Amino acid sequence: MLKSILVTGGAGFIGSHTVVELLVAGHQVVVMDNLSNAKPSVLARIRGLADRDFTFIEADVCDRDSLREVFHQHDIGAVIHFAGLKAVGESTRLPLDYYRNNFCGTLGLLETMKGFGCRNLVFSSSATVYGDPAEVPIREEFPLSATNPYGRSKLMIEDLCRDLASSESGWRIALLRYFNPVGAHPSGLLGEDPQGIPNNLMPYLLQVAAGQRPSLEVFGQDYPTPDGTGVRDYLHVVDLAKGHLAALKALPGLQGAVPINLGTGKGYSVLEMIQALERTVGHPIPWRVGPRRPGDIAQCYADPSRAQELLGWRASLDLDTMCRDGWNWQQNGAASQF
Ligand code: WQD
Repeated sequence: MLKSILVTGGAGFIGSHTVVELLVAGHQVVVMDNLSNAKPSVLARIRGLADRDFTFIEADVCDRDSLREVFHQHDIGAVIHFAGLKAVGESTRLPLDYYRNNFCGTLGLLETMKGFGCRNLVFSSSATVYGDPAEVPIREEFPLSATNPYGRSKLMIEDLCRDLASSESGWRIALLRYFNPVGAHPSGLLGEDPQGIPNNLMPYLLQVAAGQRPSLEVFGQDYPTPDGTGVRDYLHVVDLAKGHLAALKALPGLQGAVPINLGTGKGYSVLEMIQALERTVGHPIPWRVGPRRPGDIAQCYADPSRAQELLGWRASLDLDTMCRDGWNWQQNGAASQF
């Protein structure tokens, strides 16, 4: 009997794209999501895109009874853990929510996994654990630090996983450090669907391009970068989803908790992102320069060589594809979400 893969937060932006790839690859999937940041329509879209069914359980990862019930009902071979809160600014206003959902939620998941003898985990970590790196590109052995409760919760979870893996043999944990996920499924049926005003550059820029917002405020043009604006490692969400499958497949060969960067290894500035999306949409996108955003760093992009070595994975979709798929979603998918 094929063991199932439990995907917490599998209805979210990265989770939904990963569930499609898991199903297409033939895995049995159980999704657990409280739908706090996803619409129910995503579930049918996943089934349609993969042309395969999966089990969905509407529950919060902090609900330990629901977690135990999932492991009782299904033979879970591994967990891909996306569920959590992820807005940097919000985390400074609501630290208790972030530590409870992110850290305590993961603690309960690990205790339940241990109780059922499941020691295979792919964890959704973040490049934010590098704080303000002294140099770029960033390698996994660089110093770790956090500048906000969201980043600190991710760093604490990584430490929890490292301590657990050191305490007893048999744990195989991939700590996937995402850089900046953007874009959408090429079908236009799945994509980033932020509630309210988007915190991140790409969803905001797409809404300006669609005429939903008057202009983009560029947070600072006085950084020590080629054009003065922030440089980031943007990667296509489908590349990122495939990185999770590669990590799942590589787990048997991993020992303990292993951090792995998932990025393209190339940095683009805010102005380069605006120009790239203008090429896609075919018209200028209004922007203006404002003050730096507190907590922002100048440059952040990955050295992705460990992912290539350990997972046989590297990003393959270019910036124009990220913009094209993001724009397609903005025009078709996002609008039709109900
Ligand atoms: C990108 C660049 C901004 C908005 C965050 C989290 C990180 C991860 C990804 C979860 C920066 C500039 C942005 C705008 C702008 N999330 N910008 N105007 O800050 O690199 O990373 O999201 O894991 O943990 O920290 O992404 O998209 O917010 O910003 O000029 O309206 O765009 O200054 O240079 P960031 P971002």
